[in-house]
Formats: sequence, C-alpha cells, structure tokens
Amino acid sequence: MPAPVQNLPSFPLDPAQFQGLEAASRTLNPDQLVWASGYLAGLAAARRLSPAANLSGQVLALPTTGPSLTILYGSQTGNSRRVAETAAEAARAARLPVKLQSLGEFPPRQLGRESLVLFVVSTQGDGEPPEDAVAFFDFLGSNKAPKLSGLGFGVLALGDSSYPHFCAAGRLLDARLAELGATREQDRVDCDLGFASAAESWVTSALKRAFERLKREEDAIPSVTALAPVTTPPGA
Ligand SMILES: Cc1cc2nc3c(=O)[nH]c(=O)nc-3n(C[C@H](O)[C@H](O)[C@H](O)COP(=O)(O)O)c2cc1C
Repeated sequence: MPAPVQNLPSFPLDPAQFQGLEAASRTLNPDQLVWASGYLAGLAAARRLSPAANLSGQVLALPTTGPSLTILYGSQTGNSRRVAETAAEAARAARLPVKLQSLGEFPPRQLGRESLVLFVVSTQGDGEPPEDAVAFFDFLGSNKAPKLSGLGFGVLALGDSSYPHFCAAGRLLDARLAELGATREQDRVDCDLGFASAAESWVTSALKRAFERLKREEDAIPSVTALAPVTTPPGA
C-alpha cells in the first residue's frame, strides 16, 4: 500500500489543503485540469512578484477575445508601477486579456477607445501627478479631452497623509474621468504609506469587476453566423 501522500518529506500542502485540491480536481475534465494548472502557475507568478499580494479566491472564467483590460500607472519612485505590475500579472493568471502601460507612454487620445482602464497613480510635489503623467493629466483636464461615456474605470491613489494634498492626483483623476462621462466600475481607494493590504484588496476587487464587465461586453458582441458555402452554378 503506498504511503499517504501528505507524509512525503517535501509535500507542500497540509492534509486539509490537499483534500480540498483533490476534491476540486475530481470535478474537472482533462481540459479544465490543463487550464487550472496554467491558472495556478500564473497565480504563483503574481504572488512571487509581490509577496504581499494574496489574490486568492479569484477563480475566473475566461474571455479570450474581444474587449480587454488596460492598466495604467503614474509612478515616480516605483510603488504604483509595482502595484500595477502585480495587478497585470494577476489578470494574466486569470486569463483576462490585459495591457499594462505607464501614463508617460500612453497616448491620451487613446482613452476614448478603451473599454476598461484601471489606474494606479501616486501624488508628488505639492499635490501634483508624477512627472511622466503630467502630460496625460494636462490633456485630460483640457477641453481637448474626449467624452468617455464608453469607458469603465477605477483609480487606486497612492500617497502620504502627512502631505496637505493627500492623494490629490488620484482624486483629481477619479473626479475628471467621471465628469467626462466614464463609469466608475471600482471605487477609488486612497492609500497611505503602508499600502500593501489596501492595494491588494483594491486589485482583487477591481479584477473581479473587470472580469464581470468584460464578460458582459463580450456576451454583447453578436456571434458571426457561418455563411453558406459558395457553390459554382452548373455550367459556369
Ligand atoms: C517629493 C515627494 C512629494 C510628495 N508629495 C505628496 C503629496 O503632495 N501628496 C501625497 O499624498 N503624497 C505625496 N508624496 C508621497 C508619495 O505619493 C508616496 O510615497 C507614494 O507611495 C509614491 O508612489 P510612487 O513610487 O508610485 O510614485 C510625495 C512623495 C515625495 C517623495
């Protein structure tokens, strides 16, 4: 009789975890098992990237085509960038189609063509956006900014409450996007210096909502009806 698996010296799960995994895997067919292995590998990658991130419980079904999620960050010293990268890894792990870009690289006019954007933005100076996000903020605040009625968004604001204008850039962005007609899919959260736990909750919730919105949009795309094969008339 083989030794119980949980007694193997390097077995990493406790008995309850193993039983849970085993019970869940029994319900899956071979294709679902292959998908689950990729999902778990992606989740591991996301958590290794940020040990503070614990994005468990996010078992999402998968839109693979159609609308996608964009994650944009404005960051001076890397905190917002790292949160955005972790969010993008977790989205990939859940097979959400996702693009990740700095606000410095993102052409502001493109915003009107996006479906869903999550912003992670810090505040610098005396309530200003990070340097490479200034042009984006200037454009959005100007009368050249497009109407954004087709856009869903969420803002995670990073800052430091010892400054008089706490998270001012994130607050401004959140308010301006709503003013331009975009739909707030995820409420803004203002993070102080110890932001890991608040950022993690926001990302987890934002990705769940992202999945729901993208799924709705994908379901709304009419499926292509197969055309009848073209036949050559006799004698042609
Ligand atoms: C020079 C400087 C100015 C800052 N000004 C503000 C501010 O006005 N309001 C605020 O909430 N936080 C302010 N912060 C705090 C940053 O927003 C905070 O450290 C944030 O985590 C940085 O994120 P980032 O690395 O993505 O830029 C400032 C930080 C520095 C270094």
